[in-house]
Amino acid sequence: MSSADLEKEADQLRTKIQSHNQRYYQQDAPSITDAEYDLIMRRLQEIEAQNPSLVTSDSPTRRVGASPAGEFKQIDHRMPMLSLDNAFDDNEVSAFIDRLCSRLKTEEKPELVAEPKLDGIAVSLMYRKGVLEYAVTRGDGRSGEDITANVRTISSIPLKLKVANVPELLEVRGEIFMPLLVFEAYNKKALKDGTNPLVNPRNAAAGSLRQLDSTVTAERSLMMMAYSLGFVESGSGFLSADGFLLAEGSPADTHWKVLQRLGELGFVINPLMQCVTGPDECKSYYQDIATKREFLEYDIDGIVYKVNSLELQEKLGFVSRAPRWAIARKFPAQEKSTKLLNVDFQVGRTGAITPVARLESIFVGGVTVSNATLHNRDEIDRLGVKIGDEVIVRRAGDVIPKIVSVSKPGGGAEIEFPARCPVCDSEVEQIEGEVVIRCTGGLVCSAQRIEALRHFVSRKAMDIDRLGNKLIEQMVLEDPPILHSPADIYHLDISAVANLERMADKSASNLVRAIEASKETILPRFIYALGIREVGEVTALALANHFGNLQDCQKASLDELVQVPDVGPIVAGHLRGFFDNEDNLAVIDELLASGINWPSIEKPSTNMPLFGNTYVLTGSLESFTRDEAGRQIQALGAKVSGSVSAKTSALVAGPGAGSKLTKAEKLGIPVLSEQDLLNLLETYSA
Ligand code: IVH
Repeated sequence: MSSADLEKEADQLRTKIQSHNQRYYQQDAPSITDAEYDLIMRRLQEIEAQNPSLVTSDSPTRRVGASPAGEFKQIDHRMPMLSLDNAFDDNEVSAFIDRLCSRLKTEEKPELVAEPKLDGIAVSLMYRKGVLEYAVTRGDGRSGEDITANVRTISSIPLKLKVANVPELLEVRGEIFMPLLVFEAYNKKALKDGTNPLVNPRNAAAGSLRQLDSTVTAERSLMMMAYSLGFVESGSGFLSADGFLLAEGSPADTHWKVLQRLGELGFVINPLMQCVTGPDECKSYYQDIATKREFLEYDIDGIVYKVNSLELQEKLGFVSRAPRWAIARKFPAQEKSTKLLNVDFQVGRTGAITPVARLESIFVGGVTVSNATLHNRDEIDRLGVKIGDEVIVRRAGDVIPKIVSVSKPGGGAEIEFPARCPVCDSEVEQIEGEVVIRCTGGLVCSAQRIEALRHFVSRKAMDIDRLGNKLIEQMVLEDPPILHSPADIYHLDISAVANLERMADKSASNLVRAIEASKETILPRFIYALGIREVGEVTALALANHFGNLQDCQKASLDELVQVPDVGPIVAGHLRGFFDNEDNLAVIDELLASGINWPSIEKPSTNMPLFGNTYVLTGSLESFTRDEAGRQIQALGAKVSGSVSAKTSALVAGPGAGSKLTKAEKLGIPVLSEQDLLNLLETYSA
């Protein structure tokens, strides 16, 4: 490429980045994904690195973000707030470590601190004599917006530092984010109320912080984790001679010690931080966190590796917008743009007809995605999406991929909803106050039958894994059908099964054995398997524990049902509706007649060892699943709840614990490890 061409390209990249910065920082409405942004920025960096004469003083590579928006007062940072260089694979992390060694002129690899990279909003908090004076966004790195009023509403940010011996001025930096549970609850409610949902947790945090009315911020339950010190001024001598923060008399001369000190001062620090040395340890930390990622209670987009020794950090210094002593290893992008090819309509277990987007295949969040959910009419209207548009697709953890926004309209056709069920041609209805349309065909509709059966045999229900999706489909669609209702599963004709395509005798008899084994179950699974609307496993467990048997649950009035934890008037209505239906009762009777049974449930009583206690489980456990642990705790008379409150007796926290752990620590609630729990169970189990 000629230098004139390169100059032109660099100019175009700069204009692009500027406009994306504006959309991202000022309008909270990005139109490209972070990964795409990184690519554009990288290309510009590359051109500038190879052609220093093309660097301009206002190039975005010299600056951190966009100019601040102007609605909030501006505050200058005492020390610039920098960004991080990115590494996209293990080799780039290795190269980073090699660069450290060569700059420090040593063969010995420096110790690093590895921390999750939180996907939120950077904030600087200034404390004067231990009292929060102001809070500022990163802004353009030199000055940001004064968000003090909003930050004061965040309970994980101390307004006054816990320890008296603090320097005159102390700046703490960290990330503010919206916990995923808060994000999901907000969007669930928005979907119900027909209001605009939040695009993703990071935008949600940004939007919440930029509220002019801080009571709105307070309702959004944001959190903050501290990740570094900023400006520090001694004043009254609480720094060591070389400028380190003093912790119990000794200088905090490593990043690790600084963070521990911040923890003592009342900040939340990430419990998943670890010291690592060399590329192999970096890699295994990365892999470990990548597998924990989907269980975390907040979004992370990578790992940050930082040189631990502050003296070495100082030696290494900075290049224009990032420190040389740190690097961010990014996870594969969870958002990408692609083309919406078409929309099909799927009929679910309860008849709900859901629009499903057919997409040009893309690799996102570690898998290839070609379908995404569009939820309902309101969601389509809100997105303003049409066939042929370029859309941004998000796939995080195990959740179903979804379209989060339109990045480029294609001028194609509107999405039309069907007037009749696309599977059984029954009429569709829209219940007042609901946004979804439903097929009225009930079990006449083969789609609903297939979904009901799939749910019935699923792992958390009757757990008949040999009865897979394909087989169910075949058995329902066979002429005449082999399966109509779940009860038919228990009188399957083995020769009819063996006659099915791709079914050998051996697999047929294995299937029959698996079905037989599923008859020994537990009541919560059976209730869950029935597939009653909005009765998930937690509600099914609560119903089983409350009533202790199926008959009482079946007979319970609306008033009695709402007494059950987790059950409100809507779910109570669904339960009554289900148990008032003669066909459903006939299926239940048939199932029980075929020999399904469960051990009777002992209701908690005062003479049980853990009676009156409530436990919460979080993070991952090794010796058993959380479900199983919960059952064992309940068997000793205690309750198991999903959220930490002042009433919680103890939190059992495994690796990957997030906001529940922080909350428990804040409320002073005892935290048990898996081993503590095992000891407890062993002590009390007869
Ligand atoms: S250290 C000079 N540590 O990532 C280095 N940053 O692109 C300062 N971030 O805006 C950053 N988690 O807000 C650091 N554990 C962590 C982080 C973290 C998230 C954000 C930070 C910054 C961006 C860097």
